[in-house]
Amino acid sequence: MDKTKRNAVIAGNWKMNKTPCETTALINEMKPLVAGADCKVVLCVPFIDIPAAVEAAKGSNIEIGAENVHFKASGAYTGEISAQMLVESGVKYVVIGHSERRQYFGETDQTVNLRTLAAIQAGLTAIVCVGETLEQRELGYTETLLKFQTKMALTNVKAEDLNKIIIAYEPVWAIGTGVTASAQQADEGNGFVREAIAEVYGKDVADTVTIQYGGSMNAGNADELVAKINVDGGLIGGASLKAEDFSVIVKAASK
Ligand code: PGA
Repeated sequence: MDKTKRNAVIAGNWKMNKTPCETTALINEMKPLVAGADCKVVLCVPFIDIPAAVEAAKGSNIEIGAENVHFKASGAYTGEISAQMLVESGVKYVVIGHSERRQYFGETDQTVNLRTLAAIQAGLTAIVCVGETLEQRELGYTETLLKFQTKMALTNVKAEDLNKIIIAYEPVWAIGTGVTASAQQADEGNGFVREAIAEVYGKDVADTVTIQYGGSMNAGNADELVAKINVDGGLIGGASLKAEDFSVIVKAASK
């Protein structure tokens, strides 16, 4: 398999952190540190921070993403944000189906699929999260679950639209816990996702899809993780809130 067929993408997921003023300051700090990176650099920020983030990132190699999107184009959905609203605001990427949304906000495989379709139809790149809990891993369901979640998320996505899809393999037990999957576990999980894509779209297509690892990736372990054949960058939570740490991860993916 030729890894050079794929873009490595390092995406920060700020979750519910940083005010608009703090957003401007952090992006200004990051810009010189990630300039010239040989991978894509994305920051997914809270909705309210998007204007400040887009403004601060202007003229740099940092692209801005959102952390969720609604699947309807418009209507009586109080508190929701549509894909077109994001596009008009300068957003290029959107995280969909993060395990925190699945766990705390009723996200299901069906709604993940609907959001994914809405995002790519609007021209956004969807960063779709999949991952097993510790209990599911211990029961031996990791492969089955990752393949199921991947196929469900991609239902009705056409092969020619897969260049607008990134899958992030994020083992739930590794998110925000400081427990990282070993490089081998990350590679294996990402490999299951790639196999699932191959089962639907064929191997040649699957080999072109960017599959990230996420879950306590940091400045100390990024090198080893992104070197793996199936790992095309990362989705970074905690370490994306620190300019220096985030830039070390970007550099690891640029090698
Ligand atoms: P973490 O979060 O890097 O803080 O573990 C990753 C994520 O939730 O995307």
